[in-house]
Amino acid sequence: MISTDTPNPPQLKLPPLQLGHLTVDTPVVLAPMAGITNAAFRRLCREYGGGLYVSEMVTSRALVERNEQSLRIISHDDDEGIRSVQLYGVDPTTVGAAVRLIVEEDRADHIDLNFGCPVPKVTRRGGGAALPWKTDLFTAIIQAATREAARGEIPLTIKMRKGIDDDHLTFIEAGKIARDAGVAAVALHGRTAGQHYSGKADWDAIAELRNSLPDIPVLGNGDIWSAEDAIAMVEQTGVDGIVVGRGCQGRPWLFGDLQAAFEGSDRRFRPGLAEVAASFQRHAELLVEYFEDEAKALRDIRKHVAWYFKGYAVGGDLRASLAAVPTLEVLAQLLAELDADVPYPGVGAEGPRGRAGSPKRTHLPDGWLDTRIMDEEHRAMISAAELDVSGG
Ligand SMILES: Cc1cc2nc3c(=O)[nH]c(=O)nc-3n(C[C@H](O)[C@H](O)[C@H](O)COP(=O)(O)O)c2cc1C
Repeated sequence: MISTDTPNPPQLKLPPLQLGHLTVDTPVVLAPMAGITNAAFRRLCREYGGGLYVSEMVTSRALVERNEQSLRIISHDDDEGIRSVQLYGVDPTTVGAAVRLIVEEDRADHIDLNFGCPVPKVTRRGGGAALPWKTDLFTAIIQAATREAARGEIPLTIKMRKGIDDDHLTFIEAGKIARDAGVAAVALHGRTAGQHYSGKADWDAIAELRNSLPDIPVLGNGDIWSAEDAIAMVEQTGVDGIVVGRGCQGRPWLFGDLQAAFEGSDRRFRPGLAEVAASFQRHAELLVEYFEDEAKALRDIRKHVAWYFKGYAVGGDLRASLAAVPTLEVLAQLLAELDADVPYPGVGAEGPRGRAGSPKRTHLPDGWLDTRIMDEEHRAMISAAELDVSGG
């Protein structure tokens, strides 16, 4: 993989991120992304740079029930330095039990709790980004999780959005509740649930959270597409580390750029088409190992085609064939058709990618916004909010 210097890039040195007793040398976190951040993709990313690489989310109930897919999701390669898992849950007892399982079976070194999911079928039942509105339930979940995590000396963090919508912001209060319950850090995606992935992430809100929680690390998330964006976020918000999601889709080398940036170096990866094709092939091979099922792995790699080849000169027919690739052998044949001399295309390969979409009204249970504490009816309903959830 080639790497070249950029003329006069912004530079900034950031110290390691301390999460309890864990030191993350490069203060960069791979955002948990359902369907993306499996062991295969995490390996590709961490080969380029340091940081904390979080698993896809698992629901605490599925984990406690020892669902096979959930156990695969929280599996790690032997050489993953810090084994990190993200949990989602709506019930303190089940979340506590899931954390206990992880601790007792030594399945992770770090646990993140997800309170950012904006999906209607989840918020409609009071889960995801709707949950911090109910401060009693939110507090109980975090206390249960930190209590169990403490037994294994596992640092626990939370990841959340700003709130339900601009009239119902929860992040400052939620951050303080989490801090008081003993979390090791708090990460904020600077959008409300109602925004989904639209508009721009609100970095001012991230700065506000940073100032409101002087005693624990705060991590900023949203719209980091390059090392320069990462530096800008740290400069504008004062965060202790950054969380990168969509920006690394199809660009695992972004973690190399991020490490360089936080070491004060101007080294940046600028891969030509041949290097991109090699990474894509390797990603597919790692997915075959991960799923132990070639057909499934090849179905999975198809969603990455547009991200890897964004901005590169690849014909429409070839793109279409790649997006329907059935086997590793056919993949190798298709990639061999690419022009290996195509250089890095510059801005065409950079900038926003992945989920975008438009704002949507957040579906909530009837009467959810009336009070900040749970009533009997909502208590009975919320357990259903853990079914079918996928993503944040
Ligand atoms: C495909 C996809 C899946 C996601 N899954 C999760 C998830 O499982 N847990 C979570 O906390 N956030 C999830 N997110 C949200 C991201 O972690 C991140 O907060 C969001 O994409 C904003 O960061 P970005 O602008 O760097 O992408 C997901 C996002 C995407 C695009």
